[in-house]
Amino acid sequence: MHLPDLKEAKIRTDKETEYIYLQENFPKLYKGQKYFLKTYGCQMNVHDSEEVAARLESLGFEKTETLENADIVILNTCAIRENAHDKLYGFLGRCKHLKKEKPDLIIGICGCMAQEESVVQNIMEKHKYIDIVFGTHNIYLLQDLIINKKEKQNIEVLSCEGNVYENIRYKRDSKIKAWVNIQYGCDKFCTYCIVPYTRGKQRSRKSTDIIKEVEELVNNGYKEVTLLGQNVNAYGKDLKGEINFAKLLEKVAQTKIARIFFVTSHPWDFTDEMIETIAKYDNIMPYIHLPLQSGSTRILKLMGRRYTKEEYLNLYQKIKQKIPRVAITTDIIVGFPNESKEDFNETLEVVKKCEFDSAFTFIYSKREGTPAAKIIDKVSMEEKEKRLQELNKLINQYSLKANKKYLNKTVKVLVEGISEKDSSKVYGYTDTMKLVNIEGAQEQIGNIIDVLITEAKSFSLDGKYLAKSK
Ligand code: SAH
Ligand code: SF4
Ligand code: F3S
Repeated sequence: MHLPDLKEAKIRTDKETEYIYLQENFPKLYKGQKYFLKTYGCQMNVHDSEEVAARLESLGFEKTETLENADIVILNTCAIRENAHDKLYGFLGRCKHLKKEKPDLIIGICGCMAQEESVVQNIMEKHKYIDIVFGTHNIYLLQDLIINKKEKQNIEVLSCEGNVYENIRYKRDSKIKAWVNIQYGCDKFCTYCIVPYTRGKQRSRKSTDIIKEVEELVNNGYKEVTLLGQNVNAYGKDLKGEINFAKLLEKVAQTKIARIFFVTSHPWDFTDEMIETIAKYDNIMPYIHLPLQSGSTRILKLMGRRYTKEEYLNLYQKIKQKIPRVAITTDIIVGFPNESKEDFNETLEVVKKCEFDSAFTFIYSKREGTPAAKIIDKVSMEEKEKRLQELNKLINQYSLKANKKYLNKTVKVLVEGISEKDSSKVYGYTDTMKLVNIEGAQEQIGNIIDVLITEAKSFSLDGKYLAKSK
């Protein structure tokens, strides 16, 4: 987002994509001090936090889960919905309070909200206790921002971005599965969405760099990667001579990684070549997150989604026919400005036809600066809430139905750890992204095992360990 009036903030504008290979070593200036890192938002932010953590640890900071013990607090923010602001400022209140007792506490903000002009302005005017602010494109500056923070706020937000950084070090949350960015930003500009403004234009990583990262993960014992992008099927379109997403998937499948997932697929760019590649390779998981957003062609057009209800349904059927056992999940927005009862009924109709494995559902949230924010909306919040409830009831019904199909079947699960609710069990996900709680597999963390499903609920499955998978 362009930040023209922020005189004190350092604004960098890099227009062309540049590939910068980071080689860094920092002195452990903060040895013995602790960091508290809180992450809001999507997988992209979760993965960015793995970079933030590695950078903090490179200075000697150690992780703490207790805010009160922290010497530095970093909040990695999300801007997708308006209420994200309330959540952030609520938490900041606690940090401000803590700083009164601990004046040396460093408070930092990053992520998508840090790319919003109004937020940065507000921080500079009303939240002077916040020491550092950095954006989604310049996490690489974190060590410098901390070291050079003197008495005054140190704000560095990129307004127009073009860089891709390589050789980034991550402190990954898991030793079993890893996120791998394949592209940054988004060029789709759906009319309701703030992401293209907070994350900038689409920039793909080079396929050679992506494959190198996957191979390193395999060498380090990782079993699973999730390729990350706002619109993975547009991968490579911004790079001259780069391979497309289907070919990238194929190259990743030809490494020794056991399981490959990818998010998010936009229905508009989803090609037959992709469907064939997914069907062809056993290590590409039969799971696709395919956001519908609305079942009404009229609303889809207003959303700028570039497909009709019929095109979505055709694609959906084609995927189901060509990829046996595929699980498809979706995102749906209820109450886009002036969504009529008929429009909403069309969404319900598509849900009934598709019987999604599960769905994330949202009430439309107005984001200032997006085209949809200019539409005068005549539908009441009460009505939107009613529609959301009705939709959720239907979605949950189909989730349960989809899960019931697994009863008494044997599935392959990558075991990730001890179950939160019951320490005698472990948990993991099937190749179709179903959460399974498993008895008798304590020794199997990190392995792919065969599990007999004994119970199916709306949001998870229960099962018994049979044997290690071949
Ligand atoms: N790139 C992905 C989604 C990123 S945001 C895609 O296109 O599918 C995740 C989800 O948040 C979106 O799919 C959408 O359903 C929801 N979302 C985005 N902007 C929103 C808004 N202004 N109000 C409500 N939901 C929104
Ligand atoms: Fe937002 Fe649309 Fe891009 Fe997804 S594809 S991030 S919904 S603009
Ligand atoms: Fe939120 Fe930014 Fe992700 S706005 S959903 S954290 S891309």
